[in-house]
Amino acid sequence: MSVENGVPRASVAEILIEALPYIRRFAGMTVVIKYGGHAMVDEQLKVDFARDVSLLKFIGIHPVVVHGGGPQINQVLDKMGIRPKFVRGMRMTDAPTMDVVEMVLGGKINKSIVAQLNQQGVRAVGLSGKDGGLIQASKMQIVFQEDMAKPPEIIDPGMVGQVTQVHPAIIHTLTKDGFIPIIAPVGVGVEGETYNINADLVASHIAMALNAGRLILMTDVDGVLDEAGRLISSLDADRAREMIASQQITGGMIPKIEYAIEALKGGVKKVPIINGKKRHAILLELFTDQGIGTEVTLR
Ligand SMILES: Nc1ncnc2c1ncn2[C@@H]1O[C@H](COP(=O)(O)OP(=O)(O)OP(=O)(O)O)[C@@H](O)[C@H]1O
Ligand SMILES: [Mg+2]
Repeated sequence: MSVENGVPRASVAEILIEALPYIRRFAGMTVVIKYGGHAMVDEQLKVDFARDVSLLKFIGIHPVVVHGGGPQINQVLDKMGIRPKFVRGMRMTDAPTMDVVEMVLGGKINKSIVAQLNQQGVRAVGLSGKDGGLIQASKMQIVFQEDMAKPPEIIDPGMVGQVTQVHPAIIHTLTKDGFIPIIAPVGVGVEGETYNINADLVASHIAMALNAGRLILMTDVDGVLDEAGRLISSLDADRAREMIASQQITGGMIPKIEYAIEALKGGVKKVPIINGKKRHAILLELFTDQGIGTEVTLR
């Protein structure tokens, strides 16, 4: 029996044939991938990610990547002696922090993803929400209401934005000419001011604007875990809200779930949350029936 990279040759052919129905079904589909900063930790994983995304492109899927960069921003803030602060998974962003966020996201991280992809023979182009007026934003207010008897508490998170509008023309232009857009989650306000926007929120709005077939949220855990730490393979909106209220879902998972639900309401067909630390997680999600991770559903 002849063997190719440890896999019998006949199995290589079988694997390709098994993938054929998916390849046929997904050709021409837009897949928005949120690439979490926490999933970009090791070199091998970064190469695997670039290979997976390039494979999608080569078989006729239109991948669009929106990236985060939490840990990388914290590293730079730390070097500068600025302490990061989070409320409900959202980064509090004053002016000096905003400068660092824009430099790290739009510069270092964005270009390293672009370079990794280009290394795989595709043509990736980096954008921030400012390019082509892609992401219009306004200031986000965080409203807390734990005790219904008291007035709600309003928190000013600084230059944290919410998406007011997406102008996807630049993405269509790039995709039409065979490029893969790589988007840094920075938005622009009516006065030209810069906003730091949670990458899950940006990915959700981009997916809606592009009528995406999938919004894949790649993070650093297998998906949404229950109290016992078991993976929930399908999570509906009601249970998700209960889990947030009872603090079984906390931190960065809160916005992720909220924006996943928003994307589904906005017409995105399927929103899986998967572990980017698992090798080839994107391929396993797309090209197997059961997928991996947690699929968020409306009901
Ligand atoms: N019930 C839960 N199941 C799984 N993870 C949870 C849960 N509750 C909270 N979390 C936390 O949510 C985190 C994922 O969100 P986080 O914002 O930290 O990462 P990310 O969104 O992938 O990366 P980035 O914010 O840099 O883009 C997990 O690492 C985990 O600590
Ligand atoms: Mg996050």
